[in-house]
Order: sequence, then C-alpha cells, then structure tokens
Amino acid sequence: EGMFTYDPGFVSTAACESSITFIDGQKGVLLHRGYPIDQLAKSSNYIELCYLLLFGELPSDEEYDKFAQLISNHTMVHEQIVNFFKGFRRDAHPMAILCGVVGGLAAFYHDNLNITNEKERYVSAVRLIAKMPTLAAMCHKYNIGQPFMYPRNDLSYGENFLYMMFGNPCEEYKINPVFAKAMDTIFMLHADHEQNASTSTVRLAGSTGANPFACISAGIAALWGPAHGGANEAVLAMLDEIGEESEENIQRFIDKAKDKEDPFKLMGFGHRVYRNFDPRAKVMKETCDEVLEQLGMADDPQLKIAKRLEQIALEDEYFIERKLYPNVDFYSGIILKAIGIPTNMFTVIFAMSRTIGWISHWNEMIAGGHRIGRPRQLYTGHPQRDYPAK
Ligand code: CMC
Repeated sequence: EGMFTYDPGFVSTAACESSITFIDGQKGVLLHRGYPIDQLAKSSNYIELCYLLLFGELPSDEEYDKFAQLISNHTMVHEQIVNFFKGFRRDAHPMAILCGVVGGLAAFYHDNLNITNEKERYVSAVRLIAKMPTLAAMCHKYNIGQPFMYPRNDLSYGENFLYMMFGNPCEEYKINPVFAKAMDTIFMLHADHEQNASTSTVRLAGSTGANPFACISAGIAALWGPAHGGANEAVLAMLDEIGEESEENIQRFIDKAKDKEDPFKLMGFGHRVYRNFDPRAKVMKETCDEVLEQLGMADDPQLKIAKRLEQIALEDEYFIERKLYPNVDFYSGIILKAIGIPTNMFTVIFAMSRTIGWISHWNEMIAGGHRIGRPRQLYTGHPQRDYPAK
C-alpha cells in the first residue's frame, strides 16, 4: 500500500496487453494485425479492415461477403430514435448529439447485452459499425433541417454515408466515385490507433462491465477534445484564421505556437507516440492531392496555406528539436471540406471511423478476462482535520 508509480498523462504506463495494433513512434510505423497502414490504405477497404481488426485475420472472399452483407442488414436505426433527435436544438453540435444518441442505443438494442456471450458481443459490434454512418448523417440533416435519409443497402459503406449526408427525397443523388474512395481511405486511416485517449476511455468504461453502447459513447466524449479527434475541425479553423496565404500570416501562427506564454498549439501537429512522420498523414496528404487534383482544386488556397505551413514548421528549430510532425488530422479536413462536408461534422466522421477500433479493443478486453481499471493517485489535499465544533 502507498507504493505507486506516478505517471501523469500515462506517458510510460502500459495498461493492457493487445494484439490489434502496433505503433513504432520512432520509426513512424503503424501495423494493424501486422499489416502496414499504407498497404491497407492502398489495397484494402474499410469493411475488410473492420473484419481484420475485429477477428485478427483478413477474411476470405466468402467471409467478406457475409460480413459486408451483415453490416448492410443493420444500417437502419429504430424509428423511435427520430424522436430522440428531435429533442435537441437544431443548432446543437453534431458531436453533442452523437454522444447522446449512441449512449441511448442501449435502450433500443438491449436484446443482446449479455457481454459474457461472444455472439451477443458480436451482434452489438455489428450494430454499432452499421448504424454509426446513419446516426452521423442524421446529426447533419437535423442541423440543416432536411429530412433524414434511410440508408441504402445497395451502396458501399462510404457511398451510403455520402448518400445519407447529401441526398434528399426530391431528386436522385449522383455519387462521385472519387469522393466515395476518399471517404473510405479516411475511414481506414482513422480506424484504430491502439491505446489513445478515447480507446483507453472505452476500455476503462468497459472494464466495469458497462454495455458496449455506453462505452462507445464514453469514447466519443473523449474524442471530442481538440487535443484528440477535435483537431481536424481545429485545423480548418486555424487555416481560416490564417486567412490570406502570405509568409507573414503563416509565420505569425508558427510564432504563436512556439510562444510558451501562449497556450495555442499548431493544430494537426505533434503526437504523443510519433516522433517521426505519422504514417497516416503521409497517405492523407497523397489522398488530399489526388482528390483536389481530380476536382480541379489543386490551387485551393487552404491547401496551399497548409503545405506552406507544414514546410515552414518542418524547417523550424522548435519543431525539429521536439520532433513535431504533421499528424493524421492535418490534411483530412481539407479533403472533407472539398467533398462538401461541413466542418462541424469532421470529428463525427472520426468517431464513425474509430468505432471499429473502440469495439475491437472492448471485445478483446472482455474476451481476454480483465480486472476493473482503477488508477491510484498522489493525494495532495489536507491531512485529516476535525469538523469545527458548533
Ligand atoms: N504546436 C506547438 N508546440 C507543440 C505542439 C504543437 N502542435 N505539440 C507539442 N508541442 C510542444 C509542447 O509544448 C512541448 O514543448 P516543451 O517540451 O517545450 O514543453 C513538446 O512539444 C512536447 O509535447 P507534449 O505536450 O509533451 O506532447 P503530448 O504528447 O503531451 O501531446 C498532442 C500530444 C497531440 C496532444 C500535442 O502535440 C497537441 O496538442 N497537438 C495539437 C493537437 C492535435 O493535432 N491533435 C491530434 C493528435 S493526432 C490524432 C488524434 O489523436 O486525434
């Protein structure tokens, strides 16, 4: 008793064993079940990656078809959830709505909540993966006052999401294959990242035996902050604030980020684990170039600012010394914006993509046996004292 390792921010404490994702932060390596992220991003797709993360191996063709079909079968949400949405203000941030409705799913899908049963855990996992795009798109539609669109199961995961976001009942929505491919890449690059703040939150919540919907909603809450998933929204706000592309404007933000008196950080830069290029950022940058090129937007002013900002930061002593590189969120926002996705939906899309990571970690923990997560503390308050006599 009383002998603890003190590790604020969990810089050097491993809280669990896991066989899902490996990161070598010094080398800039990210492997899912052993496969490098750049190879997966190039040759796989999000649904296959979901299967890999959840089950540990790539699916055969037959397994893939069965899994993809199963996900499609669960895309619709209980009609009563529409009423739940209607309780929110129209201008509510979609992340606030998402935290609420995902936690509320346990009230709708309580038929398979025996977490000690592997099959029931699987049903909840499939429901979450399938319903997240539907709920995410509903958040957006609610914000803009358009009718909710029912999912279409003839479409791929990414296509269906775009359809529910941008389609309306009055006219046919033509899905741009470049957008659908880019969405799938963004989903893949955000799918899992071992014990980050939100995944650790899901594990901690799950360690108490709480149901998976409650645990994922805890993860969504943790993801919301600008130091984590909220960074993609913050990057765009920063690029907006920089305004016109000029050396002077960019340098002002670099100086602000370096100023220790100023809490401002360069959004989309730095990472707890990577002391090298974030391998996801590399793929994201390529995807960004491809999408904007195909849209004839290669001269997009924000893309230009982002590239120049990256260049200046990478040549700056402050960033070199601290090994600060662009992370996954630096370029994702520019792609999402080019697709027409409003900024307040960026973190929601991160949450959607990360759901498979969260649920895979939750499942691994529950299946593997675990103790309740219960950190200790260094008490710095008053010693015992007597309540004043009255
Ligand atoms: N701009 C300026 N300085 C920075 C930045 C930045 N973006 N990131 C880190 N530093 C400095 C930090 O002030 C510290 O300086 P010093 O040693 O002089 O005190 C040094 O670099 C080491 O950083 P740290 O604070 O120890 O790093 P951390 O591991 O605690 O925090 C981080 C990691 C990602 C929260 C942080 O880099 C950050 O806030 N970045 C901006 C937000 C962001 O882009 N987040 C997305 C992360 S990736 C995707 C995700 O997880 O959602």
